[in-house]
Amino acid sequence: VTLPSKDLDGVAEYINSGRAKRIVVLTGAGISTAAGIPDFRSPGTGLYDNLSRLDLPYAEAVFDISYFREHPEPFYILARELYPGKFHPTVSHAFIALLAQKNLLDTLFTQNIDCLERRAGVPGDKVVEAHGSFATQRCIECKKEFDGDKMVEHVERGDVPRCEDKECKGLVKPDIVFFGEMLPKHFDRETYRLGMADLVLIIGTSLSVYPFAALPGMVQEGKPRVLFNLQRVGGIGAKSDDVLALGDCDAQVRKFADALGWRDELEKLWKS
Ligand code: OAD
Ligand code: ZN
Repeated sequence: VTLPSKDLDGVAEYINSGRAKRIVVLTGAGISTAAGIPDFRSPGTGLYDNLSRLDLPYAEAVFDISYFREHPEPFYILARELYPGKFHPTVSHAFIALLAQKNLLDTLFTQNIDCLERRAGVPGDKVVEAHGSFATQRCIECKKEFDGDKMVEHVERGDVPRCEDKECKGLVKPDIVFFGEMLPKHFDRETYRLGMADLVLIIGTSLSVYPFAALPGMVQEGKPRVLFNLQRVGGIGAKSDDVLALGDCDAQVRKFADALGWRDELEKLWKS
């Protein structure tokens, strides 16, 4: 075993000993719930439990490319609510930025499309947005990019933008990955980083959507994986160097920062 103890104190000691040079972080919607953005699958509060007003055949249809082609309106009703700009990063986001400041962050793989990791100060070149983001958008037919300011206007009005090419008139969609679409090309290219990682931190994800959910399985034997989540997911905890930090991720991350001796820095960075 690699860790002096199978808890956050043990992981902190591992980092402070200088042996965890390459840290990979994997995140999902649970890291942003404290910012006021619902996750997808939490019973009651999750997005998929609250879409009845959209009259969908099934909840995930709102992010399904074939459904979108026929019925783009429900997605645009939701896009208005989820559009980045009105949300602030959480303590957990700030912690990832702190890892980067300390030159310990190898890569952050995020499933989130809220752009909060960059806003918290994680350098863009360290982030792999596995499910894309709202940063750009294009026509789903001819793939021509659509202007960002115009997009904001459409989203605010809640209406569906169309390709400006007169012949095309295809539907415009933010470059977020829908069910039935490929992940960004660089996702596959960057997965080798899991195999090189000294430590993997998994924060706020149900690990239920592939291929992202396969990433924790690519970690080498003897390299610790730490799960910060409300409940145990994805079989994390089964390996000898797995650590479960169950509960609210911000609270657990603060505890971790205490163990590392980084708490003041973390709070300062979060407030800045
Ligand atoms: P999920 O909603 O599936 O999972 C969020 C996880 O975070 C759950 O296990 C929650 O219990 C946990 N959680 C929520 N709040 C938390 C908190 N404050 N502290 C700790 N844990 C908390 O979201 P994702 O795993 O991100 O894809 O979902 C993966 C993908 O499914 C999304 O990227 C999206 C969705 O369909 C697409 O739309 C393509
Ligand atoms: Zn077009």
